[in-house]
Amino acid sequence: MLPPELSDRRSAISPLHEPVRGALYSPPVPQPWWKSAVIYQIYPRSFCDTTGDGVGDLEGIRRHLDHLEWLGVDALWLSPFFTSPMKDFGYDVADYCDVDPLFGTLADFDRLVEHCHARGMRLLIDWVPNHTSDQHPWFVESRSSRDNPKADWYWWRDGSPHVPPNNWVAAFTGEPAWTWDESRQQWYLHMFLAEQPDLNWWNPEVVEAMHTTLRFWLDRDVDGFRMDVVHLLGKDRALPDLPSDARRTNVAHDYPRTHELLRGIRKVLDGYPGDRMIVGEVYILDTARVATYYGRGDELHLAFNFPPLYAAWEADAWRAEVDRVVEEFDPRDAWPTWVLSNHDNPRHRSRYGSESRARAAAVLLLGLRGTPFLYAGEELGLEDALIPPEREVDPGGRDGCRAPLPWTRAPGHGWAVEEPWLPWPPQAAEHSAEAEREDQASMLHLYRRLLAARRGSSALRRGSFSWLEAPAGVLAFERRAGEERRLVLVNFEAAPAPAAVAEGLEVEVASDGAGEGRTFSGELGPDQAVVLRPAPGVAGGAAG
Ligand code: GLC
Repeated sequence: MLPPELSDRRSAISPLHEPVRGALYSPPVPQPWWKSAVIYQIYPRSFCDTTGDGVGDLEGIRRHLDHLEWLGVDALWLSPFFTSPMKDFGYDVADYCDVDPLFGTLADFDRLVEHCHARGMRLLIDWVPNHTSDQHPWFVESRSSRDNPKADWYWWRDGSPHVPPNNWVAAFTGEPAWTWDESRQQWYLHMFLAEQPDLNWWNPEVVEAMHTTLRFWLDRDVDGFRMDVVHLLGKDRALPDLPSDARRTNVAHDYPRTHELLRGIRKVLDGYPGDRMIVGEVYILDTARVATYYGRGDELHLAFNFPPLYAAWEADAWRAEVDRVVEEFDPRDAWPTWVLSNHDNPRHRSRYGSESRARAAAVLLLGLRGTPFLYAGEELGLEDALIPPEREVDPGGRDGCRAPLPWTRAPGHGWAVEEPWLPWPPQAAEHSAEAEREDQASMLHLYRRLLAARRGSSALRRGSFSWLEAPAGVLAFERRAGEERRLVLVNFEAAPAPAAVAEGLEVEVASDGAGEGRTFSGELGPDQAVVLRPAPGVAGGAAG
Protein backbone atom coordinates (compact mmCIF):
# COMPACT_ATOMS: atom_id res chain seq x y z
CA MET A 1 0.00 0.00 0.00
CA LEU A 2 1.11 3.54 -0.58
CA PRO A 3 1.53 5.69 2.50
CA PRO A 4 -1.57 7.87 3.02
CA GLU A 5 0.35 11.11 2.29
CA LEU A 6 1.17 9.76 -1.14
CA SER A 7 -2.32 8.67 -1.98
CA ASP A 8 -3.57 12.07 -0.86
CA ARG A 9 -1.05 13.67 -3.17
CA ARG A 10 -2.34 11.58 -6.05
CA SER A 11 -5.89 12.75 -5.52
CA ALA A 12 -4.80 16.33 -5.15
CA ILE A 13 -3.12 16.31 -8.58
CA SER A 14 -6.26 15.46 -10.50
CA PRO A 15 -9.61 14.15 -9.40
CA LEU A 16 -9.75 10.37 -9.55
CA HIS A 17 -13.46 10.31 -10.09
CA GLU A 18 -15.77 12.55 -11.91
CA PRO A 19 -19.50 12.51 -11.49
CA VAL A 20 -21.70 11.29 -14.31
CA ARG A 21 -24.49 13.68 -15.06
CA GLY A 22 -27.77 12.44 -16.36
CA ALA A 23 -30.73 10.92 -14.60
CA LEU A 24 -32.16 13.38 -12.11
CA TYR A 25 -32.50 11.20 -9.05
CA SER A 26 -29.59 8.80 -9.34
CA PRO A 27 -26.54 9.65 -7.26
CA PRO A 28 -23.39 10.40 -9.27
CA VAL A 29 -21.68 7.18 -10.35
CA PRO A 30 -17.92 7.34 -9.89
CA GLN A 31 -16.11 6.96 -13.20
CA PRO A 32 -12.56 5.69 -13.27
CA TRP A 33 -10.12 8.05 -14.96
CA TRP A 34 -9.17 5.62 -17.72
CA LYS A 35 -12.66 5.64 -19.21
CA SER A 36 -12.44 9.26 -20.19
CA ALA A 37 -8.69 9.42 -20.80
CA VAL A 38 -6.80 9.68 -24.06
CA ILE A 39 -3.69 7.53 -23.67
CA TYR A 40 -0.48 8.22 -25.59
CA GLN A 41 1.97 5.42 -26.33
CA ILE A 42 5.68 6.20 -26.24
CA TYR A 43 8.23 3.84 -27.70
CA PRO A 44 11.14 5.10 -25.60
CA ARG A 45 13.90 4.16 -28.06
CA SER A 46 12.34 6.45 -30.65
CA PHE A 47 11.09 9.41 -28.64
CA CYS A 48 14.14 11.55 -27.90
CA ASP A 49 17.80 10.89 -27.19
CA THR A 50 19.56 13.16 -24.72
CA THR A 51 22.80 11.21 -24.25
CA GLY A 52 24.15 10.93 -27.78
CA ASP A 53 23.93 7.16 -28.21
CA GLY A 54 21.21 7.49 -30.86
CA VAL A 55 18.59 5.77 -28.71
CA GLY A 56 15.83 7.65 -26.92
CA ASP A 57 15.82 7.72 -23.13
CA LEU A 58 13.66 8.51 -20.10
CA GLU A 59 15.13 12.00 -19.78
CA GLY A 60 14.13 12.61 -23.41
CA ILE A 61 10.54 11.83 -22.47
CA ARG A 62 10.66 14.10 -19.43
CA ARG A 63 11.96 16.99 -21.53
CA HIS A 64 8.99 16.74 -23.87
CA LEU A 65 6.24 16.61 -21.28
CA ASP A 66 5.43 20.17 -22.30
CA HIS A 67 4.51 18.94 -25.77
CA LEU A 68 2.26 16.25 -24.31
CA GLU A 69 0.58 18.57 -21.87
CA TRP A 70 0.03 21.17 -24.58
CA LEU A 71 -1.40 18.45 -26.83
CA GLY A 72 -3.79 17.48 -24.04
CA VAL A 73 -3.22 13.77 -23.47
CA ASP A 74 -4.24 12.37 -20.08
CA ALA A 75 -1.89 9.44 -19.68
CA LEU A 76 1.30 7.99 -21.13
CA TRP A 77 2.09 4.35 -21.74
CA LEU A 78 5.79 3.60 -22.07
CA SER A 79 6.91 0.55 -24.04
CA PRO A 80 9.63 -1.41 -22.19
CA PHE A 81 12.67 0.39 -20.78
CA PHE A 82 13.81 -2.50 -18.57
CA THR A 83 17.20 -4.21 -18.57
CA SER A 84 17.32 -6.14 -21.81
CA PRO A 85 19.69 -7.60 -24.39
CA MET A 86 17.31 -5.94 -26.93
CA LYS A 87 16.79 -8.94 -29.17
CA ASP A 88 13.15 -7.82 -29.34
CA PHE A 89 14.01 -4.23 -28.43
CA GLY A 90 13.03 -4.50 -24.80
CA TYR A 91 10.25 -7.08 -25.01
CA ASP A 92 12.95 -9.52 -23.90
CA VAL A 93 13.32 -8.51 -20.27
CA ALA A 94 16.40 -9.53 -18.26
CA ASP A 95 15.39 -7.65 -15.10
CA TYR A 96 11.80 -6.57 -14.52
CA CYS A 97 12.81 -4.23 -11.72
CA ASP A 98 15.47 -2.05 -13.26
CA VAL A 99 16.00 0.43 -16.06
CA ASP A 100 18.32 -0.50 -18.91
CA PRO A 101 21.32 1.90 -18.90
CA LEU A 102 20.38 2.84 -22.49
CA PHE A 103 17.30 4.57 -21.07
CA GLY A 104 18.71 5.91 -17.79
CA THR A 105 18.27 4.91 -14.18
CA LEU A 106 15.55 4.20 -11.65
CA ALA A 107 16.11 7.73 -10.37
CA ASP A 108 15.28 9.04 -13.88
CA PHE A 109 12.16 6.94 -13.82
CA ASP A 110 11.08 8.24 -10.43
CA ARG A 111 11.60 11.77 -11.65
CA LEU A 112 9.51 11.08 -14.73
CA VAL A 113 6.62 9.70 -12.66
CA GLU A 114 6.79 12.69 -10.38
CA HIS A 115 6.83 15.18 -13.25
CA CYS A 116 3.95 13.46 -15.02
CA HIS A 117 1.85 13.49 -11.87
CA ALA A 118 2.70 17.10 -11.19
CA ARG A 119 1.18 17.91 -14.60
CA GLY A 120 -1.89 15.80 -13.90
CA MET A 121 -0.80 13.09 -16.34
CA ARG A 122 -0.88 9.40 -15.48
CA LEU A 123 1.88 6.98 -16.34
CA LEU A 124 1.43 3.38 -17.46
CA ILE A 125 4.31 1.04 -18.10
CA ASP A 126 4.63 -2.12 -20.15
CA TRP A 127 4.74 -5.47 -18.37
CA VAL A 128 5.89 -8.51 -20.31
CA PRO A 129 4.62 -11.51 -18.35
CA ASN A 130 4.56 -14.27 -20.97
CA HIS A 131 8.30 -14.57 -21.49
CA THR A 132 11.61 -13.30 -20.21
CA SER A 133 14.91 -12.84 -21.96
CA ASP A 134 17.10 -15.92 -22.11
CA GLN A 135 19.57 -13.75 -20.19
CA HIS A 136 17.20 -13.32 -17.26
CA PRO A 137 18.77 -14.93 -14.15
CA TRP A 138 15.64 -17.08 -13.78
CA PHE A 139 16.20 -18.68 -17.17
CA VAL A 140 19.95 -18.93 -16.73
CA GLU A 141 19.28 -20.92 -13.58
CA SER A 142 16.42 -22.88 -15.09
CA ARG A 143 18.51 -24.09 -18.00
CA SER A 144 21.50 -24.97 -15.80
CA SER A 145 20.17 -28.40 -14.83
CA ARG A 146 17.00 -30.45 -14.63
CA ASP A 147 16.78 -30.25 -10.86
CA ASN A 148 17.66 -26.67 -9.90
CA PRO A 149 15.10 -24.67 -7.88
CA LYS A 150 13.86 -22.94 -11.03
CA ALA A 151 13.91 -26.05 -13.22
CA ASP A 152 10.15 -25.80 -13.72
CA TRP A 153 9.85 -22.03 -14.19
CA TYR A 154 9.78 -22.40 -17.97
CA TRP A 155 8.30 -24.96 -20.36
CA TRP A 156 10.79 -27.80 -20.66
CA ARG A 157 9.95 -30.99 -22.54
CA ASP A 158 11.77 -34.21 -23.33
CA GLY A 159 11.98 -35.60 -26.81
CA SER A 160 14.23 -36.39 -29.67
CA PRO A 161 16.46 -33.44 -30.58
CA HIS A 162 15.03 -33.67 -34.10
CA VAL A 163 11.31 -33.59 -33.31
CA PRO A 164 9.85 -30.60 -31.44
CA PRO A 165 7.30 -31.54 -28.76
CA ASN A 166 4.35 -30.08 -30.70
CA ASN A 167 3.51 -28.17 -33.86
CA TRP A 168 3.37 -24.66 -32.34
CA VAL A 169 5.18 -21.99 -34.29
CA ALA A 170 6.95 -18.87 -33.07
CA ALA A 171 5.88 -15.37 -34.06
CA PHE A 172 8.20 -13.52 -36.48
CA THR A 173 9.92 -16.62 -37.87
CA GLY A 174 7.09 -19.08 -38.39
CA GLU A 175 9.62 -21.72 -37.27
CA PRO A 176 8.91 -24.19 -34.44
CA ALA A 177 8.27 -22.50 -31.11
CA TRP A 178 10.83 -24.85 -29.53
CA THR A 179 14.58 -24.72 -29.13
CA TRP A 180 16.74 -27.66 -28.13
CA ASP A 181 18.93 -26.94 -25.13
CA GLU A 182 22.19 -28.86 -25.01
CA SER A 183 22.78 -28.56 -21.29
CA ARG A 184 19.41 -29.96 -20.21
CA GLN A 185 19.06 -32.13 -23.31
CA GLN A 186 15.48 -30.86 -23.52
CA TRP A 187 13.34 -28.52 -25.55
CA TYR A 188 12.10 -25.19 -24.23
CA LEU A 189 9.09 -23.27 -25.50
CA HIS A 190 9.18 -19.74 -26.90
CA MET A 191 6.15 -18.22 -28.61
CA PHE A 192 8.44 -15.45 -29.91
CA LEU A 193 12.21 -15.53 -30.44
CA ALA A 194 14.39 -18.33 -29.07
CA GLU A 195 15.85 -15.59 -26.83
CA GLN A 196 12.37 -15.11 -25.28
CA PRO A 197 11.56 -18.33 -23.37
CA ASP A 198 7.96 -18.60 -22.11
CA LEU A 199 7.41 -18.55 -18.34
CA ASN A 200 5.47 -21.42 -16.84
CA TRP A 201 2.55 -19.68 -15.14
CA TRP A 202 1.30 -23.02 -13.76
CA ASN A 203 4.14 -22.80 -11.26
CA PRO A 204 2.93 -20.83 -8.19
CA GLU A 205 6.45 -19.52 -7.62
CA VAL A 206 6.40 -17.89 -11.05
CA VAL A 207 3.03 -16.32 -10.26
CA GLU A 208 4.35 -14.91 -6.99
CA ALA A 209 7.62 -13.68 -8.51
CA MET A 210 5.75 -11.88 -11.28
CA HIS A 211 3.26 -10.36 -8.84
CA THR A 212 6.25 -9.05 -6.94
CA THR A 213 7.46 -7.25 -10.07
CA LEU A 214 4.05 -5.56 -10.33
CA ARG A 215 4.25 -4.42 -6.73
CA PHE A 216 7.73 -3.04 -7.35
CA TRP A 217 6.34 -0.55 -9.89
CA LEU A 218 3.04 0.07 -8.10
CA ASP A 219 5.08 1.10 -5.07
CA ARG A 220 6.91 3.53 -7.35
CA ASP A 221 3.54 5.08 -8.10
CA VAL A 222 2.81 3.95 -11.66
CA ASP A 223 -0.86 4.26 -12.54
CA GLY A 224 -1.04 0.91 -14.24
CA PHE A 225 0.25 -1.39 -16.91
CA ARG A 226 -0.08 -2.28 -20.53
CA MET A 227 0.31 -6.05 -20.40
CA ASP A 228 2.01 -7.78 -23.27
CA VAL A 229 0.30 -10.75 -25.05
CA VAL A 230 -1.67 -11.63 -21.93
CA HIS A 231 -3.85 -14.15 -23.75
CA LEU A 232 -0.82 -16.48 -23.88
CA LEU A 233 -0.29 -16.78 -20.13
CA GLY A 234 -2.47 -19.75 -19.29
CA LYS A 235 -1.48 -22.52 -21.60
CA ASP A 236 -3.08 -25.91 -21.81
CA ARG A 237 -0.58 -27.94 -19.78
CA ALA A 238 -0.82 -30.84 -22.20
CA LEU A 239 0.55 -28.52 -24.95
CA PRO A 240 -1.57 -30.25 -27.59
CA ASP A 241 -0.89 -29.91 -31.30
CA LEU A 242 -3.04 -27.21 -32.87
CA PRO A 243 -5.28 -27.79 -35.86
CA SER A 244 -3.25 -26.84 -38.90
CA ASP A 245 -5.48 -23.92 -39.94
CA ALA A 246 -5.18 -22.38 -36.47
CA ARG A 247 -1.47 -22.89 -36.05
CA ARG A 248 -0.58 -19.32 -36.76
CA THR A 249 -3.53 -17.76 -35.07
CA ASN A 250 -3.53 -17.00 -31.42
CA VAL A 251 -7.19 -17.91 -31.16
CA ALA A 252 -6.03 -21.44 -30.50
CA HIS A 253 -4.25 -20.23 -27.37
CA ASP A 254 -7.36 -18.76 -25.80
CA TYR A 255 -7.44 -21.03 -22.73
CA PRO A 256 -9.46 -20.78 -19.47
CA ARG A 257 -6.44 -20.80 -17.14
CA THR A 258 -5.50 -17.35 -18.48
CA HIS A 259 -8.64 -15.86 -16.96
CA GLU A 260 -7.83 -17.31 -13.55
CA LEU A 261 -4.34 -15.79 -13.77
CA LEU A 262 -5.72 -12.43 -14.80
CA ARG A 263 -8.01 -12.39 -11.78
CA GLY A 264 -4.95 -12.94 -9.58
CA ILE A 265 -3.07 -10.13 -11.33
CA ARG A 266 -6.06 -7.84 -10.99
CA LYS A 267 -6.18 -8.48 -7.24
CA VAL A 268 -2.61 -7.21 -6.93
CA LEU A 269 -3.64 -3.90 -8.51
CA ASP A 270 -6.86 -3.70 -6.56
CA GLY A 271 -4.81 -3.81 -3.37
CA TYR A 272 -3.48 -0.34 -4.19
CA PRO A 273 -5.30 2.97 -3.86
CA GLY A 274 -5.82 5.32 -6.76
CA ASP A 275 -7.55 3.48 -9.60
CA ARG A 276 -4.53 1.61 -10.96
CA MET A 277 -5.44 0.03 -14.25
CA ILE A 278 -4.53 -2.69 -16.73
CA VAL A 279 -4.86 -2.54 -20.47
CA GLY A 280 -4.12 -5.93 -21.92
CA GLU A 281 -2.76 -6.78 -25.31
CA VAL A 282 -5.14 -9.58 -26.26
CA TYR A 283 -3.78 -10.43 -29.64
CA ILE A 284 -6.75 -12.49 -30.69
CA LEU A 285 -8.38 -11.15 -33.81
CA ASP A 286 -11.86 -12.00 -32.64
CA THR A 287 -13.79 -9.27 -30.86
CA ALA A 288 -16.16 -11.66 -29.04
CA ARG A 289 -13.22 -13.45 -27.45
CA VAL A 290 -11.42 -10.23 -26.64
CA ALA A 291 -14.53 -9.12 -24.69
CA THR A 292 -14.21 -12.15 -22.38
CA TYR A 293 -10.90 -10.78 -21.03
CA TYR A 294 -12.77 -8.16 -19.03
CA GLY A 295 -14.14 -11.07 -16.98
CA ARG A 296 -16.93 -9.98 -14.68
CA GLY A 297 -15.19 -6.72 -14.03
CA ASP A 298 -12.41 -8.70 -12.31
CA GLU A 299 -9.86 -9.22 -15.12
CA LEU A 300 -8.58 -6.52 -17.48
CA HIS A 301 -9.91 -2.99 -17.14
CA LEU A 302 -9.35 -2.50 -20.85
CA ALA A 303 -8.34 -4.77 -23.70
CA PHE A 304 -6.93 -3.85 -27.07
CA ASN A 305 -9.20 -5.05 -29.85
CA PHE A 306 -7.10 -5.20 -33.01
CA PRO A 307 -9.54 -6.11 -35.82
CA PRO A 308 -10.36 -2.40 -36.44
CA LEU A 309 -6.65 -1.64 -36.76
CA TYR A 310 -6.54 -4.13 -39.62
CA ALA A 311 -9.78 -2.94 -41.24
CA ALA A 312 -9.55 -1.19 -44.60
CA TRP A 313 -10.32 2.54 -44.67
CA GLU A 314 -13.87 1.94 -45.90
CA ALA A 315 -17.15 3.01 -44.33
CA ASP A 316 -18.69 -0.47 -44.45
CA ALA A 317 -15.65 -2.13 -42.93
CA TRP A 318 -15.55 0.34 -40.06
CA ARG A 319 -19.29 0.18 -39.49
CA ALA A 320 -18.99 -3.60 -39.13
CA GLU A 321 -16.11 -3.26 -36.64
CA VAL A 322 -17.97 -0.72 -34.53
CA ASP A 323 -21.13 -2.87 -34.58
CA ARG A 324 -19.15 -5.88 -33.44
CA VAL A 325 -17.70 -3.96 -30.53
CA VAL A 326 -21.13 -2.68 -29.51
CA GLU A 327 -22.63 -6.17 -29.74
CA GLU A 328 -19.86 -7.95 -27.89
CA PHE A 329 -18.70 -5.37 -25.37
CA ASP A 330 -21.88 -3.63 -24.25
CA PRO A 331 -23.66 -6.69 -22.79
CA ARG A 332 -20.57 -7.34 -20.65
CA ASP A 333 -20.30 -3.75 -19.57
CA ALA A 334 -16.81 -3.83 -21.10
CA TRP A 335 -15.42 -0.42 -22.05
CA PRO A 336 -13.89 -0.47 -25.56
CA THR A 337 -10.50 0.78 -26.69
CA TRP A 338 -9.64 2.21 -30.10
CA VAL A 339 -6.22 2.24 -31.67
CA LEU A 340 -5.04 3.01 -35.19
CA SER A 341 -1.27 2.72 -34.82
CA ASN A 342 1.32 1.21 -32.52
CA HIS A 343 4.91 -0.02 -32.52
CA ASP A 344 4.01 -3.35 -34.18
CA ASN A 345 2.21 -2.20 -37.31
CA PRO A 346 2.66 0.23 -40.17
CA ARG A 347 1.36 3.64 -39.13
CA HIS A 348 -2.19 4.41 -40.28
CA ARG A 349 -0.88 7.47 -42.12
CA SER A 350 1.07 5.01 -44.28
CA ARG A 351 -1.64 2.34 -44.43
CA TYR A 352 -4.42 4.73 -45.42
CA GLY A 353 -2.24 6.40 -48.00
CA SER A 354 -2.85 10.13 -47.52
CA GLU A 355 -2.74 12.87 -44.95
CA SER A 356 -6.38 13.78 -45.53
CA ARG A 357 -7.48 10.23 -44.71
CA ALA A 358 -5.25 10.13 -41.64
CA ARG A 359 -6.91 13.38 -40.53
CA ALA A 360 -10.39 11.93 -41.00
CA ALA A 361 -9.27 8.81 -39.12
CA ALA A 362 -8.19 10.98 -36.17
CA VAL A 363 -11.69 12.47 -35.99
CA LEU A 364 -13.17 8.97 -36.04
CA LEU A 365 -10.76 7.65 -33.40
CA LEU A 366 -11.45 10.51 -31.03
CA GLY A 367 -15.18 10.53 -31.71
CA LEU A 368 -15.89 6.87 -30.95
CA ARG A 369 -17.14 5.60 -27.61
CA GLY A 370 -14.25 4.11 -25.67
CA THR A 371 -10.69 4.91 -24.67
CA PRO A 372 -8.52 6.05 -27.60
CA PHE A 373 -4.82 5.21 -27.72
CA LEU A 374 -2.50 7.43 -29.75
CA TYR A 375 0.91 6.25 -30.90
CA ALA A 376 3.62 8.90 -30.55
CA GLY A 377 4.12 10.67 -33.86
CA GLU A 378 0.63 10.13 -35.22
CA GLU A 379 -0.19 13.62 -33.97
CA LEU A 380 2.52 14.82 -36.37
CA GLY A 381 1.10 12.76 -39.21
CA LEU A 382 4.32 10.78 -39.48
CA GLU A 383 4.65 8.15 -42.15
CA ASP A 384 6.73 5.02 -41.68
CA ALA A 385 10.39 5.48 -42.48
CA LEU A 386 11.83 3.72 -45.51
CA ILE A 387 14.43 1.38 -44.09
CA PRO A 388 17.29 0.41 -46.39
CA PRO A 389 18.13 -3.29 -46.00
CA GLU A 390 21.44 -2.56 -44.25
CA ARG A 391 19.60 -0.61 -41.53
CA GLU A 392 16.94 -3.23 -40.78
CA VAL A 393 17.19 -4.34 -37.18
CA ASP A 394 13.88 -5.80 -36.07
CA PRO A 395 13.34 -9.56 -36.49
CA GLY A 396 9.63 -8.81 -36.99
CA GLY A 397 10.15 -6.25 -39.78
CA ARG A 398 8.58 -3.41 -37.75
CA ASP A 399 11.33 -0.80 -38.04
CA GLY A 400 9.35 1.61 -40.26
CA CYS A 401 6.80 2.58 -37.61
CA ARG A 402 9.55 2.92 -34.99
CA ALA A 403 11.39 5.73 -36.75
CA PRO A 404 12.57 8.50 -34.39
CA LEU A 405 10.31 11.47 -33.66
CA PRO A 406 11.54 14.75 -35.17
CA TRP A 407 11.26 17.56 -32.62
CA THR A 408 12.90 20.41 -34.51
CA ARG A 409 13.51 21.30 -38.18
CA ALA A 410 17.31 21.37 -38.07
CA PRO A 411 19.34 18.23 -38.83
CA GLY A 412 19.34 16.02 -35.75
CA HIS A 413 15.76 17.19 -35.16
CA GLY A 414 16.29 17.83 -31.46
CA TRP A 415 18.10 14.54 -30.81
CA ALA A 416 21.60 14.45 -29.37
CA VAL A 417 22.84 12.83 -32.60
CA GLU A 418 22.15 13.48 -36.28
CA GLU A 419 21.69 9.84 -37.16
CA PRO A 420 19.66 7.85 -34.58
CA TRP A 421 19.29 4.07 -34.37
CA LEU A 422 16.72 4.09 -37.20
CA PRO A 423 16.37 6.46 -40.18
CA TRP A 424 14.16 9.54 -39.86
CA PRO A 425 10.61 9.39 -41.21
CA PRO A 426 9.92 11.12 -44.56
CA GLN A 427 9.88 14.95 -44.51
CA ALA A 428 11.11 15.00 -40.94
CA ALA A 429 11.69 18.77 -40.90
CA GLU A 430 8.18 19.62 -42.16
CA HIS A 431 6.67 17.10 -39.76
CA SER A 432 8.73 18.14 -36.77
CA ALA A 433 6.86 19.21 -33.66
CA GLU A 434 8.48 22.64 -34.01
CA ALA A 435 7.19 23.21 -37.56
CA GLU A 436 3.73 21.85 -36.88
CA ARG A 437 3.27 23.81 -33.72
CA GLU A 438 3.79 27.04 -35.68
CA ASP A 439 1.23 26.01 -38.29
CA GLN A 440 -2.40 26.22 -37.18
CA ALA A 441 -3.41 24.05 -40.13
CA SER A 442 -1.12 21.17 -39.16
CA MET A 443 -2.05 17.66 -38.08
CA LEU A 444 -0.70 18.51 -34.65
CA HIS A 445 -3.18 21.34 -34.20
CA LEU A 446 -5.99 19.10 -35.42
CA TYR A 447 -5.17 16.53 -32.72
CA ARG A 448 -5.00 19.28 -30.15
CA ARG A 449 -8.41 20.62 -31.13
CA LEU A 450 -9.89 17.11 -31.09
CA LEU A 451 -8.48 16.40 -27.64
CA ALA A 452 -9.80 19.71 -26.38
CA ALA A 453 -13.23 18.98 -27.86
CA ARG A 454 -13.23 15.61 -26.10
CA ARG A 455 -12.12 17.04 -22.84
CA GLY A 456 -14.83 19.67 -23.04
CA SER A 457 -17.68 17.32 -23.83
CA SER A 458 -19.09 14.60 -21.59
CA ALA A 459 -21.00 13.33 -24.65
CA LEU A 460 -17.72 12.61 -26.44
CA ARG A 461 -15.93 11.26 -23.39
CA ARG A 462 -18.51 8.90 -22.06
CA GLY A 463 -21.83 9.46 -23.82
CA SER A 464 -23.98 6.88 -25.57
CA PHE A 465 -23.39 5.95 -29.17
CA SER A 466 -25.93 5.63 -31.97
CA TRP A 467 -25.67 5.53 -35.73
CA LEU A 468 -27.36 8.15 -37.86
CA GLU A 469 -28.44 7.64 -41.42
CA ALA A 470 -25.75 8.55 -43.89
CA PRO A 471 -25.09 8.18 -47.62
CA ALA A 472 -22.85 5.40 -48.91
CA GLY A 473 -19.23 5.98 -48.01
CA VAL A 474 -20.07 8.10 -44.97
CA LEU A 475 -20.40 7.13 -41.32
CA ALA A 476 -22.45 9.38 -39.06
CA PHE A 477 -23.12 8.87 -35.39
CA GLU A 478 -24.39 10.71 -32.38
CA ARG A 479 -22.84 10.76 -28.92
CA ARG A 480 -25.10 11.86 -26.10
CA ALA A 481 -24.78 12.31 -22.35
CA GLY A 482 -27.94 13.57 -20.72
CA GLU A 483 -28.92 16.66 -22.68
CA GLU A 484 -25.51 17.16 -24.22
CA ARG A 485 -24.77 15.81 -27.69
CA ARG A 486 -22.23 15.76 -30.47
CA LEU A 487 -22.44 14.42 -34.02
CA VAL A 488 -19.49 12.89 -35.81
CA LEU A 489 -19.51 12.55 -39.61
CA VAL A 490 -16.75 10.83 -41.55
CA ASN A 491 -16.49 10.80 -45.32
CA PHE A 492 -14.38 7.80 -46.34
CA GLU A 493 -14.48 8.75 -50.02
CA ALA A 494 -12.42 11.14 -52.13
CA ALA A 495 -15.60 12.84 -53.45
CA PRO A 496 -17.83 15.33 -51.65
CA ALA A 497 -20.84 13.81 -49.88
CA PRO A 498 -24.12 15.34 -48.83
CA ALA A 499 -24.75 14.88 -45.11
CA ALA A 500 -28.18 16.14 -44.20
CA VAL A 501 -28.37 16.85 -40.49
CA ALA A 502 -30.84 18.79 -38.39
CA GLU A 503 -30.41 22.52 -38.52
CA GLY A 504 -28.69 24.50 -35.84
CA LEU A 505 -25.44 22.52 -35.84
CA GLU A 506 -22.07 24.13 -36.07
CA VAL A 507 -18.69 22.67 -36.87
CA GLU A 508 -16.68 22.21 -33.69
CA VAL A 509 -13.72 20.48 -35.34
CA ALA A 510 -13.12 19.69 -39.01
CA SER A 511 -10.36 17.37 -40.19
CA ASP A 512 -9.21 20.09 -42.62
CA GLY A 513 -10.11 22.96 -40.30
CA ALA A 514 -12.75 24.22 -42.76
CA GLY A 515 -15.74 26.05 -41.33
CA GLU A 516 -14.90 25.55 -37.67
CA GLY A 517 -17.13 27.69 -35.46
CA ARG A 518 -19.63 28.21 -38.30
CA THR A 519 -22.94 26.56 -39.18
CA PHE A 520 -22.43 23.20 -40.89
CA SER A 521 -23.04 23.50 -44.62
CA GLY A 522 -24.64 20.07 -45.00
CA GLU A 523 -21.89 18.78 -47.23
CA LEU A 524 -18.70 16.93 -46.40
CA GLY A 525 -15.63 17.58 -48.49
CA PRO A 526 -13.53 14.73 -49.94
CA ASP A 527 -11.99 12.66 -47.08
CA GLN A 528 -13.44 15.15 -44.64
CA ALA A 529 -14.64 14.39 -41.13
CA VAL A 530 -16.28 16.73 -38.66
CA VAL A 531 -17.46 16.96 -35.09
CA LEU A 532 -20.69 18.96 -34.94
CA ARG A 533 -22.25 20.57 -31.91
CA PRO A 534 -25.52 22.38 -31.42
CA ALA A 535 -25.02 26.08 -32.10
CA PRO A 536 -25.16 28.37 -29.05
CA GLY A 537 -28.70 28.61 -27.78
CA VAL A 538 -29.70 25.27 -29.33
CA ALA A 539 -30.40 22.41 -26.87
CA GLY A 540 -27.61 19.90 -26.36
CA GLY A 541 -24.63 22.17 -26.74
CA ALA A 542 -23.68 22.61 -23.12
CA ALA A 543 -20.10 21.76 -22.37
CA GLY A 544 -19.62 18.98 -19.86
C1 GLC B 1 3.81 -7.82 -28.25
C2 GLC B 1 4.58 -6.55 -28.43
C3 GLC B 1 5.62 -6.78 -29.48
C4 GLC B 1 6.55 -7.88 -29.00
C5 GLC B 1 5.77 -9.13 -28.65
C6 GLC B 1 6.62 -10.08 -27.86
O1 GLC B 1 3.08 -8.17 -29.35
O2 GLC B 1 3.71 -5.50 -28.76
O3 GLC B 1 6.34 -5.63 -29.79
O4 GLC B 1 7.47 -8.18 -30.00
O5 GLC B 1 4.66 -8.85 -27.84
O6 GLC B 1 6.83 -9.58 -26.58
